[in-house]
Amino acid sequence: MKEIELLIRIKQYAFEELSADDRELVDSARRATHNAYARYSHFYVGAALRLQNGDIVIGANQENAAFPSGLCAERSAIFAAQSQQPQQAITALAISARNDRGFLQRPITPCGACRQVVLEMEDRYQRPVRLLLDGTSSVYEIKSIKDLLPLSFVDENMR
Ligand code: THU
Repeated sequence: MKEIELLIRIKQYAFEELSADDRELVDSARRATHNAYARYSHFYVGAALRLQNGDIVIGANQENAAFPSGLCAERSAIFAAQSQQPQQAITALAISARNDRGFLQRPITPCGACRQVVLEMEDRYQRPVRLLLDGTSSVYEIKSIKDLLPLSFVDENMR
């Protein structure tokens, strides 16, 4: 028997320590929370992704009375970007969230389904999507979604 240990590295920044580009991306995610349609959960999530050409595309969660019909902020942003500029790889994705008491103190982390969709983007363009997970206490930077989805499943696993 052999034990395999997996390690992930998270860089923890104060917002002010981020590069100007990353501050712009996190700010865009924060602003996007105001576009959320979250009348059921009252949890307002904003996502902002950077494309290879520098463009920023935002998304916000959209809820529905028939619960599964809604969509998370991250996938809203990714699918919008992919629908408009399918030739552009995604280089970074910032996520921010607030509830009725304000922005979350701890960095928001993406749900499992969104992680799988980000993984598909890494696979499609063969480059990592850097994650910026926003919280008022700090911002986590993670170099690839693979760190949040170990032993992940992509097309290659079917061969
Ligand atoms: N949500 C997101 O948009 N992104 C996440 O990473 C976590 C959850 C949304 C889905 C739903 O509208 C609300 O937050 C509560 O789960």
